[in-house]
Amino acid sequence: MYVSSNASLIELNTFRVEARARFLVTLETLEDISCFLTDVRFHDLPRLILGGGSNILLRDDFPGVVLLVALKGIELLGESETHRFLAVAAGENWHGLVRYTVEQGWAGLENLSLIPGSVGAAPVQNIGAYGEEFAEVCAAVDVIDMTTGETGIITAEDCRFAYRDSRFKQAPGRYLITSVLLRLPKRFVPKLDYPGVREALADAEITPRAVSDAICAVRSSKLPGLEADQPGSAGSFFQNPVIDADHAAKLRELHPNMPAWDMPDARVKLSAAWLIEQCGWKGRRVGDAGVYEKHALVLVNHGAATGAELWALADAIMQSVQARFGVSLQPEPVVLPLLSSPHSTGGTE
Ligand code: EPU
Repeated sequence: MYVSSNASLIELNTFRVEARARFLVTLETLEDISCFLTDVRFHDLPRLILGGGSNILLRDDFPGVVLLVALKGIELLGESETHRFLAVAAGENWHGLVRYTVEQGWAGLENLSLIPGSVGAAPVQNIGAYGEEFAEVCAAVDVIDMTTGETGIITAEDCRFAYRDSRFKQAPGRYLITSVLLRLPKRFVPKLDYPGVREALADAEITPRAVSDAICAVRSSKLPGLEADQPGSAGSFFQNPVIDADHAAKLRELHPNMPAWDMPDARVKLSAAWLIEQCGWKGRRVGDAGVYEKHALVLVNHGAATGAELWALADAIMQSVQARFGVSLQPEPVVLPLLSSPHSTGGTE
């Protein structure tokens, strides 16, 4: 277990905002986690579990312990007639895992290419893109219950996966995810319906790897990458809002071109990016905090923006979307310190 105090978190969050942790503890083995739990220095301090730091906005210093999960390992546990079962440690890089599987010719993860962050973070917000969600390939999640120190296995059904949500997101800090058990289908059923994916494949033979390459191309054309010359970001900053049918009907009448998707429960999902763009935010900049010029859902740090400045921009966007469309946007990343209602991302279990 590696411990540092008054540690800078700037390299550990993809927004690249400066914030300090009272303690930063790096966990490389399961024994490290046991050591941490019994170490009296850390009792009674608030904890923040960090993977790739790609889904967090730090508005301030963190007054407790940041736990950096660095457990590594990918293991093919076994196969059935229809599926492969893969155990992957939480500290593995998500995109690295996707590329490892497609290089083996294995299907299932290709549409989730280039999503930043760690494997352990994938279940927390049930990552999804281009017609695929983590929930669809998850068999179970190995955890340590940080309130008791006990290890446990939570089956996919019990993870309460929903759109960018899970029981882990609802109870921040309760479970430390140590590894995930993936169930990858042996039959390759390419999902190519998302606009631009088929075009990016061009004439290539359709293999998991070719689809992964196409997804990378589509994604890179819209979202900032993680390279040093790209602005810091946390991917989509807002969830796509779901509103009731009456409200949607009124908005559709006023805005016939508004993207909207009918949900099975008769409610309607809107495009947060479209709403934000209509309010004139796309490409705008307030100091070093900005809205990405290629995608209105992405907030970016052009250099030295603070978490508080990025949050002020987010708040202004939410207010203008509320004023113009009567729609309340919810942040997708965890915003710390936790927000009080109505934008709360916290919860208890
Ligand atoms: N649009 C605009 N302006 C923009 C961008 C998009 O009006 O600047 C409109 C377009 O009409 C487009 C629609 O918004 O048809 C949807 O845009 P897009 O296909 O880019 O998808 P999204 O709903 O904005 C979601 C996920 C992304 C994921 C993509 C592709 C959320 C919050 N975001 O974005 O996930 O990559 O679909 O599947 O659900 C992430 O979660 O961090 C993330 C990047």
